[in-house]
Amino acid sequence: MSKPTSPTDSNAPLANLEEWEDFLKVRYPESDQPAAKPFQAVDATKAKEQFRNYESTARPSVREFYRLNHRHQTFDFVQNKKRDFLALSRRQMGIWEALEYLNTLVDDSDPDTDLSQLEHLLQTAEQIRKDGHPRWFILTGLIHDLGKILCLFGEPQWAVVGDTFPVGCAYSDKIVFHQFFADNPDSGEPRYQSATGVYAEDCGLDNVHLSWGHDEYLYQVVKDYLPTEALYMIRYHSFYPAHRDGAYASLMTEQDKKMFDWVRAFNPYDLYTKSHERPNLGKLRPFYDDLISEYFPANLRW
Ligand SMILES: [Fe+2]
Repeated sequence: MSKPTSPTDSNAPLANLEEWEDFLKVRYPESDQPAAKPFQAVDATKAKEQFRNYESTARPSVREFYRLNHRHQTFDFVQNKKRDFLALSRRQMGIWEALEYLNTLVDDSDPDTDLSQLEHLLQTAEQIRKDGHPRWFILTGLIHDLGKILCLFGEPQWAVVGDTFPVGCAYSDKIVFHQFFADNPDSGEPRYQSATGVYAEDCGLDNVHLSWGHDEYLYQVVKDYLPTEALYMIRYHSFYPAHRDGAYASLMTEQDKKMFDWVRAFNPYDLYTKSHERPNLGKLRPFYDDLISEYFPANLRW
C-alpha cells in the first residue's frame, strides 16, 4: 500500500518519514552526542545561531511539516487522539505481523531510503545486539517505530512523527521552528502558557500529555510487557527537547531523570545506525521470533 506523497497534499509535506529523521541528524550530528563530548561547555549564543541555521537550511518540506505539527498539535487534539486510538480497537496483531504491516508503508522513491521500514528496524536492533546490550534492549530497537502504523490508519505525518513536546504548558524555546507555535490556538490560552501550565511542578512525565504521535501510541500497546527502561525509550525517543536539550526538567520526577539516561543510550541507535546494507531477513528471523515470544503474547491489541 502506498500513501499519497504529493507536496500539494497538505497532510503529507514530507516525501517520506525519513526526511524528518534526516533533519534530526543535521541538527544533532553524531559528533555532538553528549557521551562523545561530556565536558563541552554550553555556549548560548552559538547554540542560538546554530538553531537559526537548522531552520534556514531545512528543506521546504520539512519546514512545512513542522509548521503543520506546531499549528495543529493542541491540548484538545491530543486528548481526542488518545480517546480515539488508545481504545486499541483497530486490530489484533502479533509483533511480527505488525512489523509486516508497517512494511506496507512504502512512502517514497528517495534513493536514500531504499530499505524498507522493517529493514531499518532490523538494522537498529542488530547494531544494539552487536554492542552486547540486553535482549530487551535489542527488542526495543526492533519495535520502537511500530507506532508509525498510524500512517496506515490514515493519520497525517505531523500526527505520527516529529519531535514531541508537552501540550498544556509553555513551549520550550528549545523546540525547533518555535515561531510556528504562534499559530497554535493554545498560544492564546493563558492557562497553557505558564512554564508548568496545567501540570504541577515535578508531577512526572506520566502525568504530562505530549504531542500525539507514534511514541505514545506504541507505548500504550506494549506497556504491560517490557521493562521500565524499554518503555521510557519507546515513549520518549522523539522527545528531543528533553533528552537532547534538557528542557522540561521541572515536569520530571527523579525516576524520569534517571530513566532518561536510557532514552539517551537508545538515541544513537535510532538516529545513526541506518545504512544501505540490507539485513538478511531469513537468517535473522528465528532469533527475533524467539526474542518476541520471550516478551510478548501471540496477539496484541492495536
Ligand atoms: Fe521513531
